[in-house]
Amino acid sequence: MHSTIKIAPSLLAADFCRLDREIESVEAAGADLLHVDVMDGHFVPNITIGPFIVEAIKRIATLPLDVHLMIAEPARYVETFIDAGANSIDFHIEVAPEPAALIETIRGHGLKAGIVISPDTPVEAIIGALDAADQVTVMTVYPGFGGQELIPECVEKARRIAHVAPNVDLLVDGGINAATIPTAAAAGANVFVAGSAIFGKENRSEAINCLRRLAQEAHERRTQHSRRR
Ligand code: DX5
Ligand code: ZN
Repeated sequence: MHSTIKIAPSLLAADFCRLDREIESVEAAGADLLHVDVMDGHFVPNITIGPFIVEAIKRIATLPLDVHLMIAEPARYVETFIDAGANSIDFHIEVAPEPAALIETIRGHGLKAGIVISPDTPVEAIIGALDAADQVTVMTVYPGFGGQELIPECVEKARRIAHVAPNVDLLVDGGINAATIPTAAAAGANVFVAGSAIFGKENRSEAINCLRRLAQEAHERRTQHSRRR
């Protein structure tokens, strides 16, 4: 299991009228990454931000930008988001007929490449591309909207992926909060995307510290358990 715990606030839940202050607040609060949700109204039934806003975020952010593409044609737009300043790009396997080529393009520009798997997609769909990827994101809600409840079956999927690819960074995205992070961490996830559980709280340090502590405790229990076996 990857032991480095990272907390990635999802900007989707931030106040976009005050994006600079929102970013500053989570950076000061100890976040590890900024998660940026790009939606096109085709792959998901919602439209959010495009490369122009990613570029603006890049100008004010000091943390790396993890860009989650929820778009129908990731291969067509990946270079645009690389130019906009992404540090890692995550594309959905459901719309990537040639994941290896896409990973190569992303990594060829010095970025981390990530594969994302939606709730209805079986783990088998990503197995062939796992070795080449730097990170895998298990969607723990249906992509498209923040503030949804985590789907427990998706955590089981994360457990299987952690088992077959113990060295990859394993992200969980959707419905992650203080109540759900322990099971996701126990399943082997090490990077936690959280929107409402961070931006919905007045005190961002407290929110981030609490998530990190709960994830760490779950990892420690998991390690002790596997030592005993
Ligand atoms: C959903 C997005 C998530 C979302 C998470 O499609 O990929 O990143 O913002 O939001 P919460 O943490 O509120 O479920
Ligand atoms: Zn996301």
